[in-house]
Amino acid sequence: MSSFDPKHKDQEVKHLDSTLRPSNFKDYVGQETIKKNLHILLTAAKERNATPEHILLYGPPGLGKTTLAHLIAKELGANLKLSSGPAIMKVGDLAAILTNLTPGDILFIDEIHRLNKLIEEVLYPAMESGQLDIVIGKGPSARTIQLDLPPFTLIGATTRISLLSSPLRSRFSGGVHRLQFYSEEEISSIVKKSATILGTNIPDDAAFLIAKRSRFTPRVANYYLKRARDFAQVHKAEIDSDVVNQSLSLLEIDEFGLGVSERMIMNAIVNTFKGGPVGLNTLAAATGEEESTIEDVVEPYLIQIGMLERTTRGRKATEKAMNYFKQ
Ligand SMILES: Nc1ncnc2c1ncn2[C@@H]1O[C@H](COP(=O)(O)OP(=O)(O)OP(=O)(O)O)[C@@H](O)[C@H]1O
Ligand SMILES: [Mg+2]
Repeated sequence: MSSFDPKHKDQEVKHLDSTLRPSNFKDYVGQETIKKNLHILLTAAKERNATPEHILLYGPPGLGKTTLAHLIAKELGANLKLSSGPAIMKVGDLAAILTNLTPGDILFIDEIHRLNKLIEEVLYPAMESGQLDIVIGKGPSARTIQLDLPPFTLIGATTRISLLSSPLRSRFSGGVHRLQFYSEEEISSIVKKSATILGTNIPDDAAFLIAKRSRFTPRVANYYLKRARDFAQVHKAEIDSDVVNQSLSLLEIDEFGLGVSERMIMNAIVNTFKGGPVGLNTLAAATGEEESTIEDVVEPYLIQIGMLERTTRGRKATEKAMNYFKQ
């Protein structure tokens, strides 16, 4: 993998996520409002000896949704059962998960927007009143039996909140929280903590260099830190700003944190199409990228850092982009 695509989660990235996951709330940097809300929810539930109500976490990949679920379970001393929307294919899959819960368990469903409608309908009564309705038999002799489930907390996570049906969304009565992008200071602090977990050290200026290029995203920052550590090890050096710069340029990440495909798209808009506006399909044809990849993966960060605008007539480069990419 030459440049880092935050949506791409290969084995290495997943493994990195779990090794660098903070083990208590104190080490979970930022997201202050969410932490305060969760603190109240969890403390109140513990005092009442009850299971907290269901929680929905949403926001772009790599910002710490799964990590929060782990921390919530740990705080409650509860088991965390992990599943995901695409893994729950049949009503029976969900029934099996729910009937295997023990009292107080946390059930984490990642990519919850990918649950199909039939399964969502089984989830509603389970979330609301702790009941599972199961249909036995077929045709006229079919009947429904109701099972009482042990009390549990569902934590749903999604990167696509708009795809979640509103009946499902409204059942997360414990709170619906949007994770925010991190500031450069916050990412620097995560990088320093991660370096400690990896048994190494990174000076402030080098941590800041990583933070500046990491798309305000902890997963990306952790990935760059690990690459810098490898680079330092192979060159028998310490991690410093020089090593960070060299390892990032080896990964073809530029000073704005842009990777190869983002630069290719911007180059096309600025130089081939004279700054635009250019239609998405034309841009896709000219660059050989799929429209959905451009829209979902490449563009969001370009828009966020003020390089690209989406107009009714197509994609347009900003002045900042014209200055940086014009050949
Ligand atoms: N606030 C934070 N403080 C410290 N480390 C963090 C924080 N948020 C995320 N991380 C680290 O970033 C990595 C990615 O986080 P996580 O897997 O929780 O993201 P996610 O939101 O679940 O992403 P996805 O949507 O792709 O599942 C993990 O290694 C995690 O430890
Ligand atoms: Mg996750």
